[in-house]
Amino acid sequence: MTVTEPMLAGGVAVVTGGGSGIGRATCLRFAAHGASVAVLDVDGAAASSVATEAGGRAYQVDVTDFDALTAVVDSVSADLGTPTILFNNAGGSGIARLGDLDVAEWNRLVALNLSSVFHGIKLLAPRMAAAGRGCIVNTASISGVRPATGEGPYAASKAGVAALTATAALEYAPFVRVNAVSPGAVHTKMTDPLLSGVAGAKEWWTAKTPLDRIGTPEDIADVVVFLCSPMARFVTGQNIVVDGGMTLHGSGVDGLLERLERGVTDG
Ligand SMILES: NC(=O)c1ccc[n+]([C@@H]2O[C@H](COP(=O)([O-])OP(=O)(O)OC[C@H]3O[C@@H](n4cnc5c(N)ncnc54)[C@H](O)[C@@H]3O)[C@@H](O)[C@H]2O)c1
Repeated sequence: MTVTEPMLAGGVAVVTGGGSGIGRATCLRFAAHGASVAVLDVDGAAASSVATEAGGRAYQVDVTDFDALTAVVDSVSADLGTPTILFNNAGGSGIARLGDLDVAEWNRLVALNLSSVFHGIKLLAPRMAAAGRGCIVNTASISGVRPATGEGPYAASKAGVAALTATAALEYAPFVRVNAVSPGAVHTKMTDPLLSGVAGAKEWWTAKTPLDRIGTPEDIADVVVFLCSPMARFVTGQNIVVDGGMTLHGSGVDGLLERLERGVTDG
Protein backbone atom coordinates (compact mmCIF):
# COMPACT_ATOMS: atom_id res chain seq x y z
CA MET A 1 0.00 0.00 0.00
CA THR A 2 1.42 3.44 -0.85
CA VAL A 3 1.31 6.40 1.47
CA THR A 4 -0.65 9.24 -0.10
CA GLU A 5 -0.72 11.77 2.72
CA PRO A 6 1.61 11.90 5.76
CA MET A 7 -0.43 11.61 8.96
CA LEU A 8 2.32 12.33 11.50
CA ALA A 9 4.13 15.32 9.98
CA GLY A 10 6.19 17.20 12.56
CA GLY A 11 5.87 14.43 15.15
CA VAL A 12 8.75 13.06 17.21
CA ALA A 13 8.34 9.32 17.78
CA VAL A 14 10.11 7.12 20.32
CA VAL A 15 9.94 3.40 19.50
CA THR A 16 11.23 0.82 21.97
CA GLY A 17 12.34 -2.51 20.53
CA GLY A 18 12.68 -0.59 17.27
CA GLY A 19 15.55 -2.74 16.03
CA SER A 20 13.48 -5.67 14.81
CA GLY A 21 10.08 -7.01 13.82
CA ILE A 22 7.02 -4.95 14.74
CA GLY A 23 9.13 -2.12 16.14
CA ARG A 24 11.24 -1.86 12.99
CA ALA A 25 8.20 -1.86 10.69
CA THR A 26 6.61 0.85 12.83
CA CYS A 27 9.75 3.01 12.73
CA LEU A 28 9.66 2.84 8.92
CA ARG A 29 5.93 3.62 8.79
CA PHE A 30 6.31 6.53 11.26
CA ALA A 31 9.10 7.96 9.11
CA ALA A 32 7.05 7.51 5.94
CA HIS A 33 4.29 9.50 7.63
CA GLY A 34 6.61 12.41 8.36
CA ALA A 35 7.71 11.79 11.97
CA SER A 36 11.28 12.04 13.25
CA VAL A 37 12.06 8.64 14.73
CA ALA A 38 14.14 7.66 17.77
CA VAL A 39 14.93 3.94 17.50
CA LEU A 40 15.55 2.48 20.98
CA ASP A 41 16.81 -1.08 21.39
CA VAL A 42 19.01 -3.10 23.71
CA ASP A 43 20.72 -4.29 20.50
CA GLY A 44 22.63 -1.17 19.47
CA ALA A 45 23.62 -2.47 16.03
CA ALA A 46 20.01 -3.31 15.18
CA ALA A 47 18.88 0.14 16.36
CA SER A 48 21.54 1.80 14.17
CA SER A 49 20.57 -0.21 11.13
CA VAL A 50 16.87 0.70 11.47
CA ALA A 51 17.70 4.34 12.25
CA THR A 52 19.60 4.47 8.95
CA GLU A 53 16.64 2.97 7.10
CA ALA A 54 14.21 5.39 8.76
CA GLY A 55 16.41 8.47 8.60
CA GLY A 56 16.16 8.64 12.38
CA ARG A 57 18.51 8.32 15.37
CA ALA A 58 19.55 5.21 17.27
CA TYR A 59 19.78 4.84 21.05
CA GLN A 60 21.03 1.69 22.76
CA VAL A 61 19.09 1.12 25.98
CA ASP A 62 17.62 -1.65 28.11
CA VAL A 63 14.03 -0.53 28.77
CA THR A 64 13.96 -2.39 32.08
CA ASP A 65 16.59 0.02 33.41
CA PHE A 66 14.61 3.12 34.43
CA ASP A 67 17.63 5.36 34.98
CA ALA A 68 19.14 4.45 31.61
CA LEU A 69 15.80 5.03 29.87
CA THR A 70 15.48 8.40 31.60
CA ALA A 71 18.85 9.47 30.22
CA VAL A 72 17.91 8.32 26.71
CA VAL A 73 14.57 10.14 26.77
CA ASP A 74 16.44 13.30 27.78
CA SER A 75 18.85 12.78 24.88
CA VAL A 76 15.99 12.25 22.41
CA SER A 77 14.33 15.48 23.63
CA ALA A 78 17.60 17.36 23.15
CA ASP A 79 18.34 15.77 19.75
CA LEU A 80 14.91 15.69 18.12
CA GLY A 81 12.57 17.73 20.33
CA THR A 82 9.97 16.73 22.93
CA PRO A 83 8.48 13.38 21.86
CA THR A 84 4.87 13.51 20.69
CA ILE A 85 4.58 9.74 20.11
CA LEU A 86 5.71 6.81 22.24
CA PHE A 87 5.45 3.21 21.06
CA ASN A 88 6.22 1.02 24.10
CA ASN A 89 6.89 -2.12 22.13
CA ALA A 90 10.01 -3.92 23.42
CA GLY A 91 9.16 -7.34 24.77
CA GLY A 92 9.87 -11.01 24.68
CA SER A 93 8.46 -14.33 25.74
CA GLY A 94 9.36 -17.68 27.21
CA ILE A 95 7.51 -20.91 27.69
CA ALA A 96 7.34 -23.05 30.83
CA ARG A 97 4.70 -24.40 33.16
CA LEU A 98 4.25 -22.30 36.30
CA GLY A 99 5.65 -25.00 38.58
CA ASP A 100 8.77 -25.26 36.45
CA LEU A 101 9.32 -21.52 36.13
CA ASP A 102 12.26 -19.96 37.96
CA VAL A 103 11.35 -16.91 40.04
CA ALA A 104 14.16 -15.06 38.29
CA GLU A 105 12.64 -15.83 34.89
CA TRP A 106 9.21 -14.64 36.11
CA ASN A 107 10.76 -11.38 37.29
CA ARG A 108 12.71 -10.96 34.04
CA LEU A 109 9.63 -11.36 31.85
CA VAL A 110 7.42 -9.11 33.98
CA ALA A 111 10.15 -6.43 33.99
CA LEU A 112 10.60 -6.71 30.22
CA ASN A 113 6.94 -6.82 29.20
CA LEU A 114 5.15 -4.79 31.88
CA SER A 115 7.49 -2.65 34.02
CA SER A 116 9.13 -1.29 30.85
CA VAL A 117 5.76 0.03 29.70
CA PHE A 118 5.29 1.75 33.05
CA HIS A 119 8.77 3.26 32.67
CA GLY A 120 7.94 4.74 29.28
CA ILE A 121 4.58 6.12 30.40
CA LYS A 122 6.02 7.56 33.63
CA LEU A 123 8.76 9.35 31.69
CA LEU A 124 6.81 10.67 28.75
CA ALA A 125 3.10 11.04 29.55
CA PRO A 126 3.65 14.00 31.94
CA ARG A 127 5.93 15.73 29.41
CA MET A 128 3.37 15.21 26.64
CA ALA A 129 0.56 16.47 28.88
CA ALA A 130 2.62 19.55 29.76
CA ALA A 131 3.21 20.15 26.05
CA GLY A 132 -0.54 19.80 25.44
CA ARG A 133 -0.41 16.83 23.05
CA GLY A 134 0.83 13.30 22.72
CA CYS A 135 -0.02 9.75 21.84
CA ILE A 136 1.14 6.51 23.41
CA VAL A 137 0.66 2.98 22.06
CA ASN A 138 1.69 -0.06 24.11
CA THR A 139 2.23 -3.51 22.63
CA ALA A 140 0.13 -6.07 24.49
CA SER A 141 -0.73 -9.45 22.94
CA ILE A 142 -3.56 -11.85 22.27
CA SER A 143 -1.83 -13.90 24.97
CA GLY A 144 -3.11 -11.31 27.44
CA VAL A 145 -6.64 -11.67 26.08
CA ARG A 146 -6.59 -15.47 25.64
CA PRO A 147 -3.71 -16.99 27.64
CA ALA A 148 -2.35 -20.45 26.85
CA THR A 149 -0.45 -23.02 28.88
CA GLY A 150 3.21 -22.16 29.37
CA GLU A 151 2.66 -18.42 28.97
CA GLY A 152 2.19 -17.45 32.64
CA PRO A 153 4.43 -14.38 33.02
CA TYR A 154 4.05 -13.29 29.40
CA ALA A 155 0.23 -13.51 29.39
CA ALA A 156 -0.09 -11.90 32.82
CA SER A 157 2.27 -9.08 31.79
CA LYS A 158 0.39 -8.44 28.57
CA ALA A 159 -2.98 -8.40 30.39
CA GLY A 160 -1.31 -5.94 32.76
CA VAL A 161 -0.30 -3.78 29.79
CA ALA A 162 -3.95 -3.54 28.75
CA ALA A 163 -4.96 -2.49 32.27
CA LEU A 164 -2.09 -0.01 32.55
CA THR A 165 -3.14 1.44 29.20
CA ALA A 166 -6.61 2.18 30.55
CA THR A 167 -5.27 3.81 33.73
CA ALA A 168 -2.84 5.97 31.76
CA ALA A 169 -5.59 6.97 29.32
CA LEU A 170 -7.72 8.18 32.22
CA GLU A 171 -4.88 9.96 34.02
CA TYR A 172 -3.53 11.84 31.00
CA ALA A 173 -6.76 12.71 29.14
CA PRO A 174 -7.61 15.00 27.44
CA PHE A 175 -4.11 15.85 26.18
CA VAL A 176 -2.58 12.39 25.74
CA ARG A 177 -4.33 9.42 24.14
CA VAL A 178 -3.10 6.01 25.29
CA ASN A 179 -4.00 2.77 23.51
CA ALA A 180 -2.68 -0.78 23.17
CA VAL A 181 -2.34 -3.14 20.23
CA SER A 182 -2.60 -6.88 20.74
CA PRO A 183 -0.95 -8.68 17.84
CA GLY A 184 -1.83 -12.25 16.97
CA ALA A 185 0.68 -14.54 15.28
CA VAL A 186 3.24 -12.35 13.50
CA HIS A 187 6.43 -13.69 11.89
CA THR A 188 9.35 -11.90 13.59
CA LYS A 189 12.63 -12.77 15.28
CA MET A 190 10.61 -13.61 18.42
CA THR A 191 8.37 -16.18 16.71
CA ASP A 192 10.83 -17.47 14.11
CA PRO A 193 12.12 -20.33 16.30
CA LEU A 194 8.55 -21.66 16.39
CA LEU A 195 7.53 -20.86 12.82
CA SER A 196 10.75 -22.04 11.19
CA GLY A 197 11.85 -24.60 13.74
CA VAL A 198 8.71 -26.59 14.59
CA ALA A 199 7.29 -28.78 11.86
CA GLY A 200 3.78 -27.75 10.85
CA ALA A 201 3.69 -24.67 13.10
CA LYS A 202 3.07 -22.27 10.23
CA GLU A 203 0.21 -24.37 8.85
CA TRP A 204 -1.24 -24.85 12.34
CA TRP A 205 -1.27 -21.10 13.11
CA THR A 206 -2.62 -20.29 9.65
CA ALA A 207 -5.47 -22.77 10.06
CA LYS A 208 -6.41 -21.07 13.35
CA THR A 209 -6.61 -17.67 11.61
CA PRO A 210 -9.84 -16.82 9.75
CA LEU A 211 -7.98 -14.37 7.47
CA ASP A 212 -5.89 -17.40 6.50
CA ARG A 213 -2.29 -16.26 6.94
CA ILE A 214 0.43 -15.45 9.46
CA GLY A 215 0.59 -11.72 10.24
CA THR A 216 3.37 -9.41 9.09
CA PRO A 217 5.02 -6.68 11.19
CA GLU A 218 3.46 -4.14 8.80
CA ASP A 219 -0.05 -5.43 9.67
CA ILE A 220 0.59 -4.17 13.20
CA ALA A 221 2.56 -1.06 12.26
CA ASP A 222 -0.31 0.30 10.16
CA VAL A 223 -2.69 0.05 13.11
CA VAL A 224 -0.15 1.81 15.35
CA VAL A 225 0.13 4.64 12.81
CA PHE A 226 -3.67 4.89 12.74
CA LEU A 227 -3.82 5.05 16.55
CA CYS A 228 -1.21 7.84 16.59
CA SER A 229 -2.90 9.80 13.82
CA PRO A 230 -5.73 12.32 13.90
CA MET A 231 -7.91 9.58 12.36
CA ALA A 232 -8.05 8.06 15.88
CA ARG A 233 -8.65 11.37 17.67
CA PHE A 234 -11.61 10.01 19.69
CA VAL A 235 -9.99 6.67 20.60
CA THR A 236 -8.29 6.23 23.96
CA GLY A 237 -7.83 3.52 26.57
CA GLN A 238 -8.49 0.72 24.07
CA ASN A 239 -6.75 -2.58 23.40
CA ILE A 240 -7.02 -3.17 19.65
CA VAL A 241 -6.66 -6.84 18.74
CA VAL A 242 -4.88 -7.28 15.38
CA ASP A 243 -4.91 -11.04 14.84
CA GLY A 244 -6.67 -11.88 11.58
CA GLY A 245 -9.59 -13.12 13.69
CA MET A 246 -7.62 -15.79 15.59
CA THR A 247 -9.24 -15.03 18.95
CA LEU A 248 -12.72 -15.34 17.47
CA HIS A 249 -12.25 -19.06 17.94
CA GLY A 250 -12.67 -20.67 21.31
CA SER A 251 -16.38 -20.57 22.09
CA GLY A 252 -18.01 -23.71 23.47
CA VAL A 253 -19.78 -24.40 20.17
CA ASP A 254 -16.76 -23.58 18.00
CA GLY A 255 -16.97 -25.70 14.83
CA LEU A 256 -20.34 -27.29 15.72
CA LEU A 257 -22.17 -26.07 12.60
CA GLU A 258 -19.35 -27.32 10.36
CA ARG A 259 -19.51 -30.74 12.04
CA LEU A 260 -23.28 -30.91 11.63
CA GLU A 261 -22.99 -29.89 8.00
CA ARG A 262 -20.50 -32.73 7.46
CA GLY A 263 -22.94 -35.10 9.16
CA VAL A 264 -20.55 -35.75 12.05
CA THR A 265 -22.58 -36.19 15.25
CA ASP A 266 -20.15 -38.04 17.49
CA GLY A 267 -16.43 -38.57 18.07
N1 LIG B 1 5.50 -11.64 16.96
C1 LIG B 1 4.34 -11.93 17.51
O1 LIG B 1 3.64 -12.89 17.08
C2 LIG B 1 3.83 -11.11 18.67
C3 LIG B 1 2.51 -11.37 19.11
C4 LIG B 1 2.02 -10.61 20.17
C5 LIG B 1 2.79 -9.64 20.75
N2 LIG B 1 4.07 -9.42 20.32
C6 LIG B 1 4.84 -8.38 20.97
O2 LIG B 1 5.36 -7.49 20.01
C7 LIG B 1 6.50 -6.83 20.53
C8 LIG B 1 7.61 -6.85 19.51
O3 LIG B 1 8.01 -8.19 19.29
P1 LIG B 1 8.47 -8.74 17.86
O4 LIG B 1 7.59 -9.88 17.55
O5 LIG B 1 8.58 -7.65 16.89
O6 LIG B 1 9.88 -9.37 18.27
P2 LIG B 1 11.39 -9.08 17.83
O7 LIG B 1 12.18 -10.05 18.61
O8 LIG B 1 11.50 -9.10 16.35
O9 LIG B 1 11.67 -7.59 18.32
C9 LIG B 1 11.80 -7.27 19.68
C10 LIG B 1 12.88 -6.20 19.82
O10 LIG B 1 12.91 -5.79 21.21
C11 LIG B 1 14.28 -5.65 21.58
N3 LIG B 1 14.40 -5.80 23.03
C12 LIG B 1 14.30 -6.94 23.74
N4 LIG B 1 14.54 -6.69 25.05
C13 LIG B 1 14.78 -5.37 25.16
C14 LIG B 1 15.11 -4.52 26.25
N5 LIG B 1 15.22 -5.01 27.49
N6 LIG B 1 15.29 -3.21 26.01
C15 LIG B 1 15.19 -2.71 24.76
N7 LIG B 1 14.90 -3.47 23.68
C16 LIG B 1 14.70 -4.79 23.88
C17 LIG B 1 15.00 -6.76 20.82
O11 LIG B 1 16.40 -6.52 20.74
C18 LIG B 1 14.29 -6.70 19.47
O12 LIG B 1 14.94 -5.81 18.59
C19 LIG B 1 6.82 -7.54 21.85
O13 LIG B 1 6.32 -6.78 22.94
C20 LIG B 1 6.06 -8.84 21.73
O14 LIG B 1 5.72 -9.37 22.99
C21 LIG B 1 4.60 -10.13 19.27
